Amino acid sequence: MTQIDDVKSRLDIVELISSYVNLQRSGSSLKANCPFHQERTPSFFVFPDRQSWRCFGACAEGGDALSFVMKAERIEFRDALQRMAARVGITLANNEESRGVGRQLFEINDEARRFYQQMLGETEAGFVREYLERRGINERSVQTFELGYSPPRDNRLLGHLRQAGYDDALIAQAGLARETDDGRYYDLFRGRLMIPIRDWEARVAGFGSRALDEEATPKYLNTPRTPVFDKSRILYAMHVAKEPVRQRGAVIVEGYMDAIMAHQHGYDNVVASMGTALTERQVDLVRRLTTDVTMALDGDPAGRNATLRSLESSWGVFQRRNSANTSVSMLQQPDAMELRVAELPSGQDPDDFIRKDPSAWPTFLKQAQELFDYLLTSLSDRADMESPDGRSWVANTMLRFVAQIPDPVRSDLYVDRLAARLGVNNETLRRALDEIKRQLARERRGEPAASTADAATPLPVRDHDAVEEGVLAFLLQHGMEPLEEYEEAPSAEWFSRSENREIYRSVIAGEEDGEEPVAPELQAHLESLRSKELRLSTQAKRDKAWRQMSLALEKEHLNNEIRQLSSLPEIMEDFESPMAQRLLRNNIRIGEIDRLLKPSSPNQN
Ligand code: UTP
Ligand code: MN
Repeated sequence: MTQIDDVKSRLDIVELISSYVNLQRSGSSLKANCPFHQERTPSFFVFPDRQSWRCFGACAEGGDALSFVMKAERIEFRDALQRMAARVGITLANNEESRGVGRQLFEINDEARRFYQQMLGETEAGFVREYLERRGINERSVQTFELGYSPPRDNRLLGHLRQAGYDDALIAQAGLARETDDGRYYDLFRGRLMIPIRDWEARVAGFGSRALDEEATPKYLNTPRTPVFDKSRILYAMHVAKEPVRQRGAVIVEGYMDAIMAHQHGYDNVVASMGTALTERQVDLVRRLTTDVTMALDGDPAGRNATLRSLESSWGVFQRRNSANTSVSMLQQPDAMELRVAELPSGQDPDDFIRKDPSAWPTFLKQAQELFDYLLTSLSDRADMESPDGRSWVANTMLRFVAQIPDPVRSDLYVDRLAARLGVNNETLRRALDEIKRQLARERRGEPAASTADAATPLPVRDHDAVEEGVLAFLLQHGMEPLEEYEEAPSAEWFSRSENREIYRSVIAGEEDGEEPVAPELQAHLESLRSKELRLSTQAKRDKAWRQMSLALEKEHLNNEIRQLSSLPEIMEDFESPMAQRLLRNNIRIGEIDRLLKPSSPNQN
């Protein structure tokens, strides 16, 4: 808590938000066109005195500096906190346990990286250097990508790390060693080409490794999931590709070697998905930098069905991301994220292709098609388009993609396009689409609903610290039933402080979806809320306290908004404006709350 406060107190919200939008003075506040939605008259305000912001337009959202960064950069609370801490020059000490382990794992990985790199220079690794040479990987790439070699015998890494003072359990936790049933440890990576994988912050999170003998399996062995490594949350080579991606868009290839070879030839906006379908997290990472994404697919007809499934899921991810916000980035680019696909000639991957003719790469990328068109073309190639069955198969497969578009306007456009290409009636396709949507919904019902944070937090809460904390402490200590009993459960939005909002979202409202891990930085705050003395010994006292607290929270929230609204000169100019209306509505609701809070009989307390 104190650390979070410390970071917030050193941040100037005006300076922070100014680096995203052009703020203009407006009375004691500042205003701009809202960076989160399209608009022509500014309804986005920053209040320097309260260090808060709010959009009174379509978003109807607000918060403090941290929640602004979370929204603007689409990052999680702890990432926002870390970023802001770095901005104001604070090193987060944080929850020693989990933070400490994380730091140690990165440290061990880095030590292993050094060890493997050094091993590559040894005499016994001569054949590995020859292998790299045969593959056309030059010395500079070996350095840039920090390639290494894991010795095949004697658990040399383990010995090295023990000597450096790390204990076996931690080495195993980093995924570098395994424990046998009788409690002995051995190196996981043996006799392999080692490829360190750095995360968004350029820390060594894990390793990929390639067998050097063509017969050996698996061809690639990666670090298993650890507290700091999750393959689905990292794009390989991103740590060196950020700036080029920002400038020229991202090219996503499948393999490590593809990315390395591309960079070697100066195509440095290339990152690798590491062989799997793109995940939401990976798409989020790219989207921080660009909306222009091209996937370079291996020309591999044998794997086409798998590729199709993987594209279907990538497509879904892109559609959901595009609908998550009407405006794509803080720079107010109105264009949605665009995914294009280019397929290599049969039997080639980007590595082969670039090695053969490096200069052909840009031309190859230029002929990339929008994913929708790529799929339609490749499906049509495979179907007998003369037969009704063939056309119907293509139509239905394509409609499965269209069904994932949340935006009805976009979805309509695709249906029209499909109808034109297949020579089918639009209305027929629309009916088929409705049926497919129902079917997908049935399929989904089999699984736990992936409810969004918003759906999980249907209620309103308020703002002042003591009130916010009281509500959280109550819910943490007395269970969540009050949320079900009352119609007006607090909404996350009612918490003005992002750390409270985060706890409400992840710990309390998120509980139905199973434990969502709380950011380590919030642990201390969470603990203090759990141990806060409430003195509510009887059920009657608890009921009354909850009612008062939740109403107080709402009132505080409404009052905050009123204070913000009243400071806007605009409000005096037009009493019909949405802002003036809101002011009125808030006042009416506060009147109601005051009546509800008024002791109805003298025996209260
Ligand atoms: P590929 O099999 O296409 O490998 O897998 P590649 O990159 O062309 O490798 P080379 O040229 O034969 O050396 C693509 C990516 O999928 C992941 C790796 O990230 C690999 O780079 N992969 C593949 C695995 O993680 N494990 C495997 O067993 C295979
Ligand atoms: Mn390859």
